[in-house]
Amino acid sequence: MPVHYHPLSREFHLCNGFISYVIHILPNGMPANLYCGGRVRDREDFSYLLQNRRRSLAVSQSTEENSYAQQYTCMEYPVFGTGDFRYPACTALQSDGSRVLELRYEKHNVYAGKPALQGLPATYTESDDEADTLELTLLDAQTGLRCVLLYSIFRDHAALARSVRFENAGKEPLVLERAMSLSLDLPDMNYEMITLSGAWSREREPFAAPLTPGVQGVYSLAGASSAEHNPFIMLKRPSTDEDHGEALGFSLVYSGNHMCVTVADTHGKARVLMGIHPDTFRWTLNPGESFQTPEAVMAYSAQGMGEMSRTFHRLYRSRLARGFWRDRERPLVINNWEATGAMFDQPQLLEIAHQAQTVGLELFVLDDGWFGHRDDDRQSLGDWYVPEGSLKLPQGLQGLAVRLKEIGLQFGLWIEPEMVNPDSEIYRQHPEWILCAPGRTPSPSRNQYVLDFARAEVVDYLFLALEKILGGSDIRYVKWDMNRYITECYSHALPPERQGEVYHRYILGVYALYDRLTAAFPRVLFESCASGGARFDPGMLYYAPQAWTSDNTDAMERLKIQYGTSYAYPLSAMSAHVSEAPNQQVGRMSALATRSHVAIFGVFGCEMNIGALTVEEKETLREQIALAKQYRELVRTGDFYRLQNPYCGSSCAWMVVSGDQSRALVGYYRLMVRANEPWLRVTLRGLNANLDYRVNAGEVYGGDLLMNAGLTVEPDQMTSNGADFSSILFELTAVAK
Ligand code: DGJ
Repeated sequence: MPVHYHPLSREFHLCNGFISYVIHILPNGMPANLYCGGRVRDREDFSYLLQNRRRSLAVSQSTEENSYAQQYTCMEYPVFGTGDFRYPACTALQSDGSRVLELRYEKHNVYAGKPALQGLPATYTESDDEADTLELTLLDAQTGLRCVLLYSIFRDHAALARSVRFENAGKEPLVLERAMSLSLDLPDMNYEMITLSGAWSREREPFAAPLTPGVQGVYSLAGASSAEHNPFIMLKRPSTDEDHGEALGFSLVYSGNHMCVTVADTHGKARVLMGIHPDTFRWTLNPGESFQTPEAVMAYSAQGMGEMSRTFHRLYRSRLARGFWRDRERPLVINNWEATGAMFDQPQLLEIAHQAQTVGLELFVLDDGWFGHRDDDRQSLGDWYVPEGSLKLPQGLQGLAVRLKEIGLQFGLWIEPEMVNPDSEIYRQHPEWILCAPGRTPSPSRNQYVLDFARAEVVDYLFLALEKILGGSDIRYVKWDMNRYITECYSHALPPERQGEVYHRYILGVYALYDRLTAAFPRVLFESCASGGARFDPGMLYYAPQAWTSDNTDAMERLKIQYGTSYAYPLSAMSAHVSEAPNQQVGRMSALATRSHVAIFGVFGCEMNIGALTVEEKETLREQIALAKQYRELVRTGDFYRLQNPYCGSSCAWMVVSGDQSRALVGYYRLMVRANEPWLRVTLRGLNANLDYRVNAGEVYGGDLLMNAGLTVEPDQMTSNGADFSSILFELTAVAK
């Protein structure tokens, strides 16, 4: 996967077995983009792709260079103020009040491997032959602002990781006002943009819209990547479907305020910009200082949206997620939240745990309500200890851990370190530790305030408090929650002119705490959570290999949420629990087996009072848990194919295939029954056409047949035959010839 440099044409060609990306240095030293797409052979000069024609109103930078203008060129990292009137990739306010920048080529460096990004999550390599990196350094000679564009191309993935490092090599301070992680100008705009948008309990629904001239996109100003708009966009050709056609995915490895937009111009070009949202960002860069942007990852597919997603899945589960749990089977948890809320006592917990153990679950997660005097969400957040004489946990966490061990379960714990209730010891001691604008009343949400993670002492305090908790009993799993968005984002530890840094410093503080805790407890499995899936993003995935996908545990709703989430994220990241019926979020009744058939395509767990199930239901659950154990490795590591879209009809289907194509698991779900309905059929993907597969320990069919004619689905074999919300799993095993 070389990075070719052609000095005569001043071109860089980054390529691997799947993709090519070509940058050209213009005569004035500014970089332009010539190509981003499927792999092409290298050549000395790609500059025939540069479109330069005199146009009215064109601005060029000198009279000798009037044949092209930035406005009409595909620029690589566009700036403001010298003739490109589209949204720029960066803006810097200078000490003389100017914002004009001229970033021109200064030098470049190519090396094997991929650098880590200081304090930020990022994809990584395990050996230097897994990626090559180009550092392309641009300089604004007048201010001394250096802008180092980082490109890492992976050997094994149709993906390119990008970020930017700004260095102030001048004599005056600068204020970065916009510092995009990625800018890409595409030569045409014949694309549809897909975004993953939603709200609490209906996160990451795919929305598609054709690009039209102007600005289109998604963003977050909530202080978290948000349930409303995930930091991901896809551009696909109008005819692209799951299996055919071009798709370009863009994913920001960041958990805070973001902006992911396209700017389509009136000459048919489309610019993609992705990075920290500039509206809430101002970063002072003193002489000698540098600023590193978050990473953005681009994936390209010529085989449809499905392959684009699988590229992200493979990359993110193997080279973004890290640590002990990355490549290990995840424990099947029982979480007490939907069974008890914050009101419980130890006998109740132990009964839930006991029941869970009898059906085969492995780890008990004690959710919210175990600390301070917490009986509901009005008190004690921030007081991370079990008080003496606690009625809920008389022997503390340690006592509970011991009892769970006796039952045969491991122990996991819920925390929400970023928040405090006004009614808490910690807030009474340190009211100055919350984010709060001077002279204004902080706005509560869920009765809580946000701690100022831009303050090192806050992060230090929490590390010590949580280190004590995690070190004090045998805790194997942590669910790190975050239950409100950020308002009044002002840090009393920073001067007025640095308040534009607080949102980003907050996220850096969160990452720092994650870093310290995961380093101190490398064997603890972390699951991220934010009122369900309000911070389900690649940044979190770097620290926590799985995330609570949504507070919505209804199976039919989960089909949609997990389907949308799979556009960018692997199944190994999606925590999915079987919960009670009627469902607590939507009141829907569905068969226990249907609920399990949805959860099995994620990190399977349960969140209910198993003791309240009938004998038959308990038996069903036991069987489904055994199945989940049998398939958890395949689901975690296999290739995922979306077969039928639940947003588009009355059915949903998907499947996961092992890397060697010897096993597959297919889920088929019927959302609504229909009278006198058509034949139900599902056409499979990803199998080996030359192999034969035994289906559900019965008939044998060729992989070619299954991928062309498909499987027939008999409604009377599905769960809850004749009712809505039924499902069937097909287990496929290759048979020896
Ligand atoms: C929101 C989470 O998404 C729930 O699963 C639960 O942990 C509650 N918070 C507890 O407050």
